[in-house]
Amino acid sequence: MTVEARGAEVSEVRCPDGPVLLRGADEVVDEAGVVHPVTRPVVALCICDKSQRLPWCDGTHKAVARARRRRGAADAHSGREGTSGEVQRDVPERA
Ligand code: FES
Repeated sequence: MTVEARGAEVSEVRCPDGPVLLRGADEVVDEAGVVHPVTRPVVALCICDKSQRLPWCDGTHKAVARARRRRGAADAHSGREGTSGEVQRDVPERA
């Protein structure tokens, strides 16, 4: 989701595996052109697109990150890399 933050002095901080924290925004315009007024000094913008309250973060990214870590651990345990399904383990040829 692409959004535009409007305000005199807007700053943003990207949280690891989480939202972008916007400080100083007066309003946020989503990609559909809908204007969302900002009534707090700091708001959290969803960047995972899984929030039920887009464009705002509702914390769903935590479950998304946990699932990603679980998949990564399962892939590492099985010898796969990432989630592409490609097997990275070398299998010796049979004689
Ligand atoms: S970043 Fe928090 S719900 Fe998407």
